[in-house]
Amino acid sequence: MSTDRLNIDGHTRIFGLIGNPVGHTMSPVIHNTLAAYYGHNLIYGAFPVADDPVKAVEGAYALGIGGLNVTVPHKSAVIPALVETDDFAFKIGAVNTLVRMDEKGGYKGYNTDMPGLYRAMCQEDITIAGETVVILGAGGAARAVAMMTASKGAVRVSVLNRTVSKAEAIVKEITALYPDCQMCAGSIYDLHDLPEEKFLCIQATSTGMSPHADQAVIEDGAFYERIHTGFDLVYNPYDTKFMQLVRQAGGKAYNGLNMLLYQGVVAYELWNDMQVGEEAVSLVRRRLKEEMGL
Ligand code: ATR
Repeated sequence: MSTDRLNIDGHTRIFGLIGNPVGHTMSPVIHNTLAAYYGHNLIYGAFPVADDPVKAVEGAYALGIGGLNVTVPHKSAVIPALVETDDFAFKIGAVNTLVRMDEKGGYKGYNTDMPGLYRAMCQEDITIAGETVVILGAGGAARAVAMMTASKGAVRVSVLNRTVSKAEAIVKEITALYPDCQMCAGSIYDLHDLPEEKFLCIQATSTGMSPHADQAVIEDGAFYERIHTGFDLVYNPYDTKFMQLVRQAGGKAYNGLNMLLYQGVVAYELWNDMQVGEEAVSLVRRRLKEEMGL
């Protein structure tokens, strides 16, 4: 055990994550690594909040907590507790980052998941503007991805889901906001109506997450022939079945670890009013991989 004293004093700013459960979270690795790298006097912990996230947010503000991340199942439920919500987060209907605004007497909510995904894609030179995109899933994550891709200028977005009515609801809602993007809904069981050109496919279902690493939401090899780039939001396992199928068919495949990393980086930037550099990002990536035993 290290005998080094943590440099916590009366000026240390306290940040953290609220959600349920929070035991598995890797966010403390991201934020405490960045704080150590930049010499910022702050610590980041995890607060399990089972019920009443609104009370938790109000209590956090009263205690002087500098900012919070919010995870499942409270990303929408905390919104009524905020003094302001960023426009894009409001459209998505989910916030994952709360920034303290003393002048307004509360927190402003942001969604850094989608900027995080966008930055992770930019880092791999994956473009969205002008692109044809197929999104697998129609839950909260898929809905946000559909919003992000439409807002970044994708020309065509198809949303495929097990429950088609949920995909249809997303398409209807996002078409109203971004009419220039051609959107359509479909079933993961009927792949006859796919775009003609090769596409970017974003896997936004929970299928294939550990311990179900041997599963992919679509197994049909012909589907994977159509993908030039596959991006799985799942990062555990590190190499998902979806990614393996994309690669076997000749496409490039990425997991969700960089999205996790950059959603944290964007939150850290909002809390500290700064830009995090690539050297610090690389250090955090190494720490996250160590944490995952990679
Ligand atoms: P999140 O907030 O992470 O998006 P969610 O809202 O529960 O989580 O959505 C989970 C997504 O994974 C949904 O698209 C779900 O399909 P349904 O809408 O039909 O439920 C999809 N999903 C989960 N398990 C699946 C499975 N075994 N096969 C196909 N799709 C699955």
